Parts: sequence; structure tokens; C-alpha cells
Amino acid sequence: MHPQVLTDRGLAAAARDAAGRSPVPVDVNVSLPRRLPEAVEVTAYYVVSEALANIAKHSRAGRARVLGLLVDDTLIMEIRDDGVGGADPAGGTGLIGLADRVAVVDGRLSLSSPAGGPTTMRVEIPCG
Ligand SMILES: Nc1ncnc2c1ncn2[C@@H]1O[C@H](COP(=O)(O)OP(=O)(O)OP(=O)(O)O)[C@@H](O)[C@H]1O
Ligand SMILES: [Mg+2]
Repeated sequence: MHPQVLTDRGLAAAARDAAGRSPVPVDVNVSLPRRLPEAVEVTAYYVVSEALANIAKHSRAGRARVLGLLVDDTLIMEIRDDGVGGADPAGGTGLIGLADRVAVVDGRLSLSSPAGGPTTMRVEIPCG
């Protein structure tokens, strides 16, 4: 859950690595000017991992996309898929666990997943 690539090379490299293991093709566009605090990197990586796991298990998507950028010392990550939608935190433990972990680092998590899709998860974590 805390891969060496994250420790050694940071969030962008770790996100590309996770995307490379996804059965659904993922476009990754994570552009960060510097390494972020360890707790932020670990939490954001956890979000990307669970989101990609959910896409593989549930979405029936043809493609997914991971975006990441730093705006005014806030990390913004967005994971989107073009699948069937209907993601619901009440349906499992993964999404609830994400919300808890993001809250620990004073971040915010939002999920949009109407029936029919698309599904977009967005997380904002302050790095200051
Ligand atoms: N990207 C997605 N597209 C469509 N449905 C989704 C997506 N992500 C989650 N879901 C739906 O929301 C439910 C809840 O997701 P959640 O991650 O909380 O649980 P889970 O993946 O079923 O189990 P786990 O506890 O192992 O994560 C899923 O069971 C699934 O029905
Ligand atoms: Mg899950």
C-alpha cells in the first residue's frame, strides 16, 4: 500500500505506475513542481489506487483519466472514468475509507457518479 516508487520518485511516478497496472486504459496527466509532504503523497496515492481498483471492478469503462496539479499549495487530483456510473459509498467500505483518510489530512473528497456515468472522483488536499 506504500510502494517504493512513491517513496523514491513521488506521486506522479507512482500514479503512472498504478495506471500501468490497470486493465482499463488510463491517461495520466499529473504535473507537480515538487515533492509533497509524505502524508499528502500517501493519501493521494491511496485515493488513486482505490479509484482505479473500483474502475476495474465496477465501471465497465473503456477509458479512465487521472489528473493532478498543485494550485496555491493545494493538491488537486481527479480520477474519471467513462463507465456506467452509480458509485455509492453505501455499497462497500472502499469509498468510506477514502473519505476518512482524506479527512485526516484536512482534505476534501467529492464524488459524482450519476446512473449512466461518467464517474468523477476529486480530492483536494492542502499541502501548506
Ligand atoms: N467507478 C465506478 N463505477 C461504477 N460503480 C462504482 C465505481 N466505484 C464504485 N462503484 C460502486 O460503488 C460501490 C461502493 O464502492 P466501494 O469502493 O466503497 O466498495 P467496493 O469496491 O464494492 O468494495 P471495497 O470495500 O473492496 O472497496 C461499489 O460496490 C460499486 O457498486
Ligand atoms: Mg472499492
